[in-house]
Amino acid sequence: MNVLVAGNLPDTEIDRIEKEHRVQVHRQDRPMERRAILESIGDKQGLLSMITDTVDSDLLDRAPGLKIVANFGVGYNNIDVPAATRRGIMVTNTPGVLTDATADLTMALVLAVARRVVEGDRYTRQGRFRFWAPFHFLGHEITGKTLGIVGMGRIGRAVARRAAGFDMRVLYHSRNPLAEEEERKLSVHYAGLKTLLQEADFISLHTPLTPQTRHLIGSRELDWMKSDAFLINTARGAVVDEQALVEALKQRRIGGAGLDVYENEPRLTPGLECLDNVVLLPHVGSATVETRRRMAAMAVDNLLAGLQGRIPPNCLNPDVVAME
Ligand code: DGY
Repeated sequence: MNVLVAGNLPDTEIDRIEKEHRVQVHRQDRPMERRAILESIGDKQGLLSMITDTVDSDLLDRAPGLKIVANFGVGYNNIDVPAATRRGIMVTNTPGVLTDATADLTMALVLAVARRVVEGDRYTRQGRFRFWAPFHFLGHEITGKTLGIVGMGRIGRAVARRAAGFDMRVLYHSRNPLAEEEERKLSVHYAGLKTLLQEADFISLHTPLTPQTRHLIGSRELDWMKSDAFLINTARGAVVDEQALVEALKQRRIGGAGLDVYENEPRLTPGLECLDNVVLLPHVGSATVETRRRMAAMAVDNLLAGLQGRIPPNCLNPDVVAME
């Protein structure tokens, strides 16, 4: 069968696909242009997509033989899953393998914003570090503070485990509250969104981007936060109304933010890059050598299973197979 791999993967993974199929690979380490994807997709049975590729009805209509879209990522808001399901196309993602890397990066942002790590680095490089003084470059302690986790899936729970190591009190808000035993094991307490935002010193977002979570954090929610609290986002940019966030940061209505993701990625809302109370990263939550290797292997496992007519291990719409 014919396969389009729309991003650069390790050779070993491309070899695995090539053993069974004809493969076209976008070898550059940047997103494949949409125009090029649309031109190539017509004769493909398999698509290994990146989270930057929009897989919508327009694309699917040009691929009459497509059987599977294997996304290289756990988030799949780039794919219109119902549209794929209607066309009998399987969709898969890569859950689990990036949990620890993303939770680690979340803690890196918590520490970075609280202790002004990036600002301090800039200051030192600029040759401005000329003395030590008692009130110089004070940040905030995280030990004993309250962390509010919004979205308690795999990554939210991994963040809670890390926060326990810093003796943080952890509140969480989630569509599906955890069982009491799991809450006890993780030492976390359920709270309504408003209570969580009002009580937490650090708020970390871990929800997928869906119509229900788009702009979950807007101007009203930012005003519920304490004026010295920090917002951390390693989930999806559009969970936050970024324009409202920039206003809140400018007016110092909140303490600061640590962001790995943006509403209109890779563009930033104007003004964000000028603020000194934010730490900005280029969507690197899962960007470790080990995790990206595991993501590639999992995406290829899913792709090959789908092309062999099996239900892939991480199928998001197994009803497609039942419909056949
Ligand atoms: C994902 O897998 O959804 C991540 O955002 C990629 O880093």
